[in-house]
Amino acid sequence: MNEPVIADKKPAMLELEAGTYYWCTCGNSQNQPFCDGGHKGSEFIPQAFELTDKKTVALCQCKYTANAPFCDGAHSKL
Ligand code: FES
Repeated sequence: MNEPVIADKKPAMLELEAGTYYWCTCGNSQNQPFCDGGHKGSEFIPQAFELTDKKTVALCQCKYTANAPFCDGAHSKL
């Protein structure tokens, strides 16, 4: 499996409404941290996640988190 592209070495802090979102796993999206279809032709697929309430989240942009789609601090070791 290819390594993902590191989109950024800090999480995206976002206040999101309740709903379903598609987190970019490949790092190629121009609409980080969300999928924009840029993974096409690779083995990567977006990861869907759901928020039941409006919430402020820290979404991983380095793509090396072990708690996807949320930041776990992995970017500090890259
Ligand atoms: S663009 Fe990265 S998973 Fe879709």
